[in-house]
Amino acid sequence: MATAESTIQKFSTVHVDEADDSQGWASPPLEKNLGLLSTRQIELARMLIEEAQQHLFAHWAEPGIDDEKKKSFFDQVEKLDASYPGGLRSYIHNARQLLTDSKAGKNPFDGFTPSVPAGEVLSFGDENFIKFEEAGIKEACDAAFVLVAGGLGERLGYGGIKLALPSETTTGTCFLQVYVESILALQEASCKQNEGNVDRHIPLVIMTSDDTHSRTQELLKSNAYFGMKSNQVHLLKQEKVACLADTDANLALDPSEKYKIQTKPHGHGDVHALLYSSGLLHKWQISGLKWVLFFQDTNGLLFKAIPASLGVSASKDFHVNSLAVPRKAKEAIGGITQLTHEDGRRMVINVEYNQLDPLLRATGHVNGDVNDETGYSPYPGNINQLILRLGPYIEELSKTQGAITEFVNPKYKDSSKTSFKSSTRLECMMQDYPRTLLPSARVGFTVMDTWLAYAPVKSNPEDAAKVPKGNPYHSATSGEMAIYRAHSQILRKVGVKIEDPQVGIFNGQEVEIWPRIVWSPNWALTFLDVKKKLTGNCEISQKSTLVVKGANIHINDLSLDGALIVNAIDQAEVKLSPHVQNNGWIFEHVDYKDTSIPEEIRIRGFAIKKNDQTILTYDQPGKYCVQFHSVS
Ligand code: UTP
Repeated sequence: MATAESTIQKFSTVHVDEADDSQGWASPPLEKNLGLLSTRQIELARMLIEEAQQHLFAHWAEPGIDDEKKKSFFDQVEKLDASYPGGLRSYIHNARQLLTDSKAGKNPFDGFTPSVPAGEVLSFGDENFIKFEEAGIKEACDAAFVLVAGGLGERLGYGGIKLALPSETTTGTCFLQVYVESILALQEASCKQNEGNVDRHIPLVIMTSDDTHSRTQELLKSNAYFGMKSNQVHLLKQEKVACLADTDANLALDPSEKYKIQTKPHGHGDVHALLYSSGLLHKWQISGLKWVLFFQDTNGLLFKAIPASLGVSASKDFHVNSLAVPRKAKEAIGGITQLTHEDGRRMVINVEYNQLDPLLRATGHVNGDVNDETGYSPYPGNINQLILRLGPYIEELSKTQGAITEFVNPKYKDSSKTSFKSSTRLECMMQDYPRTLLPSARVGFTVMDTWLAYAPVKSNPEDAAKVPKGNPYHSATSGEMAIYRAHSQILRKVGVKIEDPQVGIFNGQEVEIWPRIVWSPNWALTFLDVKKKLTGNCEISQKSTLVVKGANIHINDLSLDGALIVNAIDQAEVKLSPHVQNNGWIFEHVDYKDTSIPEEIRIRGFAIKKNDQTILTYDQPGKYCVQFHSVS
């Protein structure tokens, strides 16, 4: 996704008068081939000529040669036209305007003054947090989840889709499974809390693209939808948009196929138009849903933050709630900012870090973006997870059809800004949805601790190793370590004695190694769940591994120095008091470049060696009460 440094935003739908036939076709090669085209395709050909795109046909052969290719060219044009709000003509007009603004160096924030918007800053485990978690669980059965997963993941460079990547390798659970199981656990907990709503199945929409669609479908099917009902999951595929060859918005031909327009991804902002046109939003409204939660493909911690932030949305009646983390001034992450225009416009949006500081300086804040008394910038860091109130969302999309303010980020060949290094295209971002809202819209944020809420996997090992010390790696290594850290910290908060982490270096990245603690979402979703299920005097050594999978497992007086794995079906009520000591599971270094090792392992720089473990399995319904010492 492009940074917004030199971007200019705009979106509008254009209306153009009917074509003037007296002008002719202005493209003899096209005119000769009109007989190949359907009536609709001739209309589109007319539109392309009116929009000065005759270069697309300059190389067209005489009728009888390449006819199939010519027809498929127009099949593509039809598709491009249908998948853009306002059609291809609007796309060209918007591109022309944005490219003109870009060339002129127009600042999209001219006339706007930044200020700190209203929001809630939460501290994990305190009274306020618990109150919001409870409120969020109550609301969850009225929510739908939308996962944007159409991205190429070029920075990560993983051969598979990101959703199939293990979030951690202790259990090997992939991101999609974590997400689905978390939603199912929320569904169960919420329906229980709202007696009478027991039959609700929380919908999950996954936005895919040509790059991810079939592999996402396959991942779901081959895993029986990870326990969801197949009709609970909807896949919506986003289409790419036409590339632009120059500042006049001439469409670019594909360098490897002259009868094809080159296309590139339009960005995750497509999700709003796709949801709108799918008809799902109205269905959800009719069935009584109130919330739509948007999230991304590789954040293994996200669902730790969902109950409380949904609780904030409900309690504060936010139409838009952006999840955020504390952000150091000038840190390379967008800041949630309120912008007020001289003409009265006001919006709360994400402002990229490289725009926020200059904007503050230009509007009277002489020091720009600086930390306040909390040690952090007052503009919290956007993590691109949004909670929208369904009613106002539908109202807004009825006006915009889901079109999101776009931007263009051309890489110019030189300062004359006349030609590009390579073709560009318009892009849009999911988090820019609030840009078109009226000032009366209730837009806010919820700040969570980073360790609890945010550990995306975006960077390959080589790039991560180059990250300056103290900055987040956002790699598969750091993403996995963050899960162990979060679980360890949560247990510390409920009173478990957890030995301090050790420092390790994997694939050139220095990370903290906490005990490898993982639990299934149905074991505990909230702080209070953990507190109820892990009681007494518990202690866990740094070298330990603890896996707990099952809804009804209660552990008291745990003493763990090694590996303990507990699996129980939901119908098994298990009470354990285990004292376990064994050689456990350890990390062994692996080389990123050693292609004999599976890619999903070597991108972490370690593999888990299972020396010894205690495994407890309860696969029959019943009540179990077990107190045991296992020392080996
Ligand atoms: P990222 O910023 O991680 O981008 O997207 P990316 O395209 O996946 O990866 P790079 O930039 O090529 O390395 C954030 C989220 O938005 C989704 C991604 O799948 C991820 O969940 N996304 C991104 C889309 O759904 N569609 C897009 O066109 C782009």
